Amino acid sequence: MKFGHFDDEHREYVIETPKTPLPWINYLGSKEFFSLISNTCGGYTFYKDAKLLRLTRYRYNDVPMDINGKYFYIKDGDTVWNPGWKPTQTDLDEYECRHGIGYSKFKGVKNGVRADVLTFVPVNDNCEVSRLVVTNDSSAEKSISIFSYVEWCLWNADDDSRNFQRNFSTGEVEVKGSAIYHKTEYRERRNHYAVYSVNAPITAFDTARDSFLGLYHYAGDPEAVLNGKLTNSMASGWSPIAAHQLDVTLKPGESKSYVFVLGYIENPVEDKWESHNVINKKPAEALLAKYDTDAKVDAAFAELNDQWDKLLNIYTVDSSNDKVNRMVNIWNQYQCMVTFNMSRSASYYESGIGRGMGFRDSCQDLLGFVHLIPDRARERIIDIASTQFQDGRAYHQYQPLTKKGNSDIGSGFGDDPLWLIAGTSAYIRETGDTTILDEMVPFDNDESVAETLMEHLRRSFGYVDTHRGPHRLPLIGRADWNDCLNLNCHSTQPGESFQTFGPSEGPVAESVFIGGMFVKYGNEYADICDLKGLTDEAAKVRASVAEMTEILLDSGAGWDGEWFVRAYDSYGGKVGSKDCEEGQIYIEPQGFCVLAGVGKETGQAQKALDSVKAKLDTKYGVMILQPAYTVYHEELGEVSSYPPGYKENAGIFCHNNPWVSIAETVIGRGDRAFEVYKKTCPAYTEEISEIHRTEPYIYCQMVAGADAKFHGEGKNSWLTGTAAWTFVNISQYILGVYPTLKGLSVDPCVPADFGDFSVKRVYRGVEYDITVKQNGVQKGVKQLIVDGAQVEGTVIPYDASKKTVKVEVVMG
Ligand code: GLC
Ligand code: GLC
Repeated sequence: MKFGHFDDEHREYVIETPKTPLPWINYLGSKEFFSLISNTCGGYTFYKDAKLLRLTRYRYNDVPMDINGKYFYIKDGDTVWNPGWKPTQTDLDEYECRHGIGYSKFKGVKNGVRADVLTFVPVNDNCEVSRLVVTNDSSAEKSISIFSYVEWCLWNADDDSRNFQRNFSTGEVEVKGSAIYHKTEYRERRNHYAVYSVNAPITAFDTARDSFLGLYHYAGDPEAVLNGKLTNSMASGWSPIAAHQLDVTLKPGESKSYVFVLGYIENPVEDKWESHNVINKKPAEALLAKYDTDAKVDAAFAELNDQWDKLLNIYTVDSSNDKVNRMVNIWNQYQCMVTFNMSRSASYYESGIGRGMGFRDSCQDLLGFVHLIPDRARERIIDIASTQFQDGRAYHQYQPLTKKGNSDIGSGFGDDPLWLIAGTSAYIRETGDTTILDEMVPFDNDESVAETLMEHLRRSFGYVDTHRGPHRLPLIGRADWNDCLNLNCHSTQPGESFQTFGPSEGPVAESVFIGGMFVKYGNEYADICDLKGLTDEAAKVRASVAEMTEILLDSGAGWDGEWFVRAYDSYGGKVGSKDCEEGQIYIEPQGFCVLAGVGKETGQAQKALDSVKAKLDTKYGVMILQPAYTVYHEELGEVSSYPPGYKENAGIFCHNNPWVSIAETVIGRGDRAFEVYKKTCPAYTEEISEIHRTEPYIYCQMVAGADAKFHGEGKNSWLTGTAAWTFVNISQYILGVYPTLKGLSVDPCVPADFGDFSVKRVYRGVEYDITVKQNGVQKGVKQLIVDGAQVEGTVIPYDASKKTVKVEVVMG
């Protein structure tokens, strides 16, 4: 069952009812100022850091769900309603929400009044613009009142939700004309404030929540709105808000438009005040003036759309499969931008006050983003590498505002160092810019011990190479990609963090998965060494990789007979083996070892993937492990803490489904690669939205596995490495347009009935127009013709002197 539909021409998902199975959200902003907005106008706004600079308040886990947002109320006689249905939940005659690329639109119609809202964050300003157009569609004159409402957050969202003894006394505001200023803590150490304004004279305002809502009321029945009259309250402590009142008369057929702007302003410390305790409003007024007419809003909206046109033109596919076209050309790339910006910080499931940027997460997010804005990827790589330690280990997370490593969680995750190679290699393959390797980058943000990025990569590889266990496999430390495989933790007390309890290292527990990574990214590192002319080092690295490959394929170490072992626990016992009672097979080493090419020649690769199909597959995707753990295993950690079928305990963890799909392309099975791709693909799961529940235009982190009560139900949407990995999978492996160090390679692996297709790819400043004749073949390039001339192999020689290149690929 569907609750809306795709409008590909406008790049929108059109939600037809406010009663979606879960709030279906969108992200506004792509640089520093961000908002989350749901299909019923819920959500919140922050500047740069969802924890430290939160502009508006949101209450996670509240009931009814998704209760705070940025609302407009319309009072028409005795009826009060909202264009997005919430919070009054007054039944609407018509409702529609269109989530687009960086904007959302709402349409609500009630009793002959129509309200259209367009909301977006302009490309170059720290504000959210919401244009409300009210139209009288009835045959009689209408006098209505419009009310706006936002609730301020006292900046630090964590403190805001806990420290009430202080916070109930600190709130301060100013009002000037239609502009309501939130200036809590500006008197002392802050030099920033927020403003909410409208481009029209107002009848009244409120800035104190209790005056607006009334005691014992909530946003669904605000007393001042029900009374039709805001009270001009000035907040002093408690909960400052911003609410405007506009009284409007509309002739039949008449429309009126209002532009609301929610902005963030920083003043120079020496220029904070206009006069004693009166804030300097000049920059705010300049900002508001930039969006005070419809024409200016139209221009800013066009600029936003132009920007996205450019970004989304970098990689486009035209195939006979609409769903593939839709995901590749629009939604998958859009989600890659969002995950790049947010890491795992702020969604409807990540509260924005927990973890900041993840080291491994951000390195992987880069893989799906780097082609869009390579310069930002470059900067991110340097930021991430700056949190590495001198011995090659890394902080697991860092805070985006300070860019400093997070010492609460610290280090010790065995896979982290190798992801830095993955991200850097992707950047160089995309751009050809090797100067990044010569950048001086600090360790642990200490400039006095800076070394080149190349040296950072060397230490990344070296750390894993020299930290091996009894089987010569890499040590796992606190966990590897699977954050819940905590083999050195041995926690027995509730509340202890599985990730930080126990030693950060152990001499015995090993990860086969990191072994697979070591092969994949060791090879990429060796290629980088070659590029730098370091042939001896490249040879040494390749020797280590070859040794690791043997270990992975050895039935006394990485190989279990029908599939790859997952790990060895701290007692040296196998994890993910037929010898185990529960958790006999895990997805990660099957996907990653094979995508790294391990076992391709020996037939073990195919065996491992066949086992995945036989043991882990479901109609909703491939599960992370089987059989699920039914009891808690102290020696395994958090993985066994979840009820069977959820999260890392036998859930369908969407992030590693593309690894299996990529692995299938590596052994040439296009049918199966695509089957795996389809199972978690939003354009396909849209049909079962009542089961899947999360947004049908983007990926979620986890779908409940076969052991779970709600098999097929998605959770934790938006912020997941699934976005980047599925884009890598579909664009680089299935459609097969893969950036190498030497140029673009075209080597598709598609289902036999996929048909011919074409790809446009802007790469290192050259536009490639690629057409593929598929010939019913799953994999194999018979002919590569570049501007009319036949070329050997699959790599298009890079020629910077050309603007456009025509490429014809004949499969066979
Ligand atoms: C979450 C984490 C990621 C981890 C994965 C598996 O997505 O953000 O770092 O790899 O879970 O545990
Ligand atoms: C990942 C896992 C989650 C775990 C968390 C710990 O996000 O998905 O289950 O609790 O990592 O950091």
